[in-house]
Amino acid sequence: MTALISHRADHLGGTIALPGDKSISHRALILGTLARGQTKIRGLLEGEDVLATARALQQLGGHIRKDEDGIWVVDGIGLSGFHEPEAPLDLGNSGTGARLLMGVVAGSGIKAVFTGDASLSSRPMARVTTPLEKMGALVSAREGTYLPLMIEGLLQPMGITYESPHASAQIKSAVLLAGLTARGETKVIEPRPSRNHTEAMLRHFGVPVEESPTADGGMEVSVRGDSLLTAADIEVPADPSSAAFPAVAALITEGSEITMTGIGTNPLRFGLFETLMEMGGDITLTNQRTEGGETVADITVRSSRLRGVDVPADRAASMIDEYPVLSVAAAFAEGTTHMDGIGELRVKETDRIALMEEGLKRAGATVSSTKESMTVTGSGQISGGITVDACHDHRIAMSFLVLGQRADQPLTVEGTETIATSFPGFREMMNRIGADIRSHDA
Ligand code: S3P
Repeated sequence: MTALISHRADHLGGTIALPGDKSISHRALILGTLARGQTKIRGLLEGEDVLATARALQQLGGHIRKDEDGIWVVDGIGLSGFHEPEAPLDLGNSGTGARLLMGVVAGSGIKAVFTGDASLSSRPMARVTTPLEKMGALVSAREGTYLPLMIEGLLQPMGITYESPHASAQIKSAVLLAGLTARGETKVIEPRPSRNHTEAMLRHFGVPVEESPTADGGMEVSVRGDSLLTAADIEVPADPSSAAFPAVAALITEGSEITMTGIGTNPLRFGLFETLMEMGGDITLTNQRTEGGETVADITVRSSRLRGVDVPADRAASMIDEYPVLSVAAAFAEGTTHMDGIGELRVKETDRIALMEEGLKRAGATVSSTKESMTVTGSGQISGGITVDACHDHRIAMSFLVLGQRADQPLTVEGTETIATSFPGFREMMNRIGADIRSHDA
């Protein structure tokens, strides 16, 4: 088990370029493979999750390689060019890779078995296979919902209208991807808008996507089954979900000022920064621009006195992966931060509410939770001096390493190797700006 120890830091400073966006990287490889022609991808996240998606696409007949200049090149095989993999597709830790590729297989007339690591194998998949079955795919899953599972797709599935019970981009994307080869129109109605990277990239590849808000705050998205994707180059912005960690670290560490360049600022991903600004965080965006259908900016963060806030439930989808590190910021804020509508956190790589609550309490913070919410009252005083088990969850590991930076005593985090799934080089980058994160035996 890989353990890291986070020691108290003085102040953080410097300008950093963070790794590429995980969600966009998966989609760039998948849509590039579904397209006709060659797609060049700059800034692809070379994290374990994305590499697992690349390997799975290769098993399905995709042509993906990395050039000497660091650019990833995808030679598309079109919507009907897939072949049946000889071995199961192992998506490792990646929920996005597994669920999006289930949509691809469902619409491509082949059969594939999906496997993953222990964490992925304990996450519910019926939320994706249920609509895919309605489209005509045959699915056989362990206990009806868990990996390993097998999907037998159709060359031309049935177009459906699917009312999703969750605001989940993974569900929406899987259905839309299967819809690209379906008969007629495929529509997904979500209770709240979730990240729209699939829609933006489909448009970038020349596919018309209809989007319209519903009367009760949701979103309807549809594609037509006669869609064709035309290859187009992609510039992957840096991941706002990774930027969350140095941002919170700088906010809570006196005398800090850091700048993170080229961060994606898609409003459906920007809930954390919005919340931190409401808490009094000194955060400025400069050099705002649009690249390949996605908005991007340089973000400067200075240490700030934070105040507790109520984070509204309808913001959850736009910051779902950022609540663990927000709870760390909340532990240093004056007053109480209440986060509602976050039940989905319980079915991520781990039950993230439970792990954050337990670790924060042991480190000296005041925390409570319900099935759907978490409340943190800041004290500014974190004793540390403990060992927490991140249970191989990358975002839990990074959150506690940020917490340790302001703890009185060093904080040891076990089960940190999965940081490489989303943020390879995290420790080195944090140390470069002034953090003091050491390996256990250093
Ligand atoms: C993702 C969607 C979110 C998020 C995950 C990445 C995506 O999951 O938590 O890290 O790339 O579509 P859900 O769609 O299941 O909420």
